[in-house]
Amino acid sequence: MPSAPKKLFIKTYGCQMNVYDSERMAEALGGQGYVTTEVAEEADMVLLNTCHIREKAAEKVYSDLGRMKPLKAAKPDLKIGVAGCVAQAEGDEIMRRMPMVDLVVGPQSYHRLPAMEAAVAGGAKVVDTDFPAEDKFEIMAERPRVQKGPAAFLTVQEGCDKFCAFCVVPYTRGAEVSRPADRVLTEARALVAAGVRELTLLGQNVNAWHGAEGGLAGLIAALARIQGLERIRYTTSHPNDMDAALIAAHRDEPKLMPYLHLPVQSGSDRILRAMNRKHTVAEYLWLIDKVRAARPDIILSSDFIVGFPGETDADFEATLDLVRKVRFGAAYSFKYSARPGTPAAEREAPDPAVADDRLQRLQALIEQQTQEVMAAMVGQETSVLFERRGRMDGQWTGKSDHLFAVHVRDSGDLWGEVRRVRITGVTSHSLSGQILG
Ligand code: SAH
Ligand code: SF4
Ligand code: F3S
Repeated sequence: MPSAPKKLFIKTYGCQMNVYDSERMAEALGGQGYVTTEVAEEADMVLLNTCHIREKAAEKVYSDLGRMKPLKAAKPDLKIGVAGCVAQAEGDEIMRRMPMVDLVVGPQSYHRLPAMEAAVAGGAKVVDTDFPAEDKFEIMAERPRVQKGPAAFLTVQEGCDKFCAFCVVPYTRGAEVSRPADRVLTEARALVAAGVRELTLLGQNVNAWHGAEGGLAGLIAALARIQGLERIRYTTSHPNDMDAALIAAHRDEPKLMPYLHLPVQSGSDRILRAMNRKHTVAEYLWLIDKVRAARPDIILSSDFIVGFPGETDADFEATLDLVRKVRFGAAYSFKYSARPGTPAAEREAPDPAVADDRLQRLQALIEQQTQEVMAAMVGQETSVLFERRGRMDGQWTGKSDHLFAVHVRDSGDLWGEVRRVRITGVTSHSLSGQILG
């Protein structure tokens, strides 16, 4: 009789790439007889796929590990692993702080998980934070054709060579690497055959993708030819890699959705220079004009850091000015967090209370813009890809072209369908609508 499958509980922190990596790690351990569970208490292995971007995110891992002590006490065979960017940044230190951890695996070595799992099952402790010469995706088995949802992530580029003065990503993810176009297309076709209708191409600097001539725009054009794939998105882009072809794709490629996340971080040239962003405010605004000329209804979003070392009131006001000029549909703002090993960590940051105040003011302005953009959608038609049943009977939830959550009521089965919808109202951070025809 085959033995009962072992159970794997994965908790994912951080960015969308970690979401993708968690799926791939689950698949890798699937070959070792693991199935995933949502219940940590019944797991034979717990894997925390971690994020190191800000201190709070990194420290959360240790408090979560602390909370797992009773689990390990109740089930001594339970294996605990730490993956992702904290694993990469802190390596052995994790085992020193948390002796209950059995396995530490960095984001570039998780194709070795099957061998690591076998070693751990035999009682060993394993730390693997190499940046191996081999490409993990080449080594891993083909993705199983399991229907998960109609929208999926697909990593096409990893790592970063930009070295913004505040950021750990170049150290945790390594140098910029692009996956070859044919591999991306093969994986995309498999996902579409499994029912995927929307792909979000992922990369720390996804628009720096150089896996084939023509760059990301060329890759998008090739993906758009896959029958059954209805929508394409990409994230995260860097302003300096936003080339003319990619901007033109927003005009010419109907499957490319009208949404662009283009982080600017600050509206002050002085701070942009101190951040080593290598572009000015004027250059960013020029890009935004180009993108809007190509696709007038595009929704723009950004990331901001407030309280960066040296940020004055005037610098912060310049950030508010930039936000007012651009009119974002969404944006994420963070209080600067000094990260070990980054150049900015050596510099003195503004008073935390000042940074808190700036964060609140910036978030209030962004929230006001989001509400205005959503209110302007009322009465308009959009396409929605339905992904979930709502809590109420007959309620369905999906994402509009512009990435807003939209709720409708319909007695049919809308799962995985793209339908035309008229937006009828705004409910806090989502829209409600009616299916047309
Ligand atoms: N590669 C992307 C995003 C990287 S991380 C880019 O270049 O924009 C996501 C966001 O986290 C960043 O855009 C930045 O706003 C924020 N971030 C990164 N490091 C940070 C730090 N040390 N403190 C606060 N926020 C940070
Ligand atoms: Fe970090 Fe800057 Fe690279 Fe983005 S571009 S991942 S913020 S170093
Ligand atoms: Fe965090 Fe690593 Fe992503 S630090 S934001 S999980 S690349």
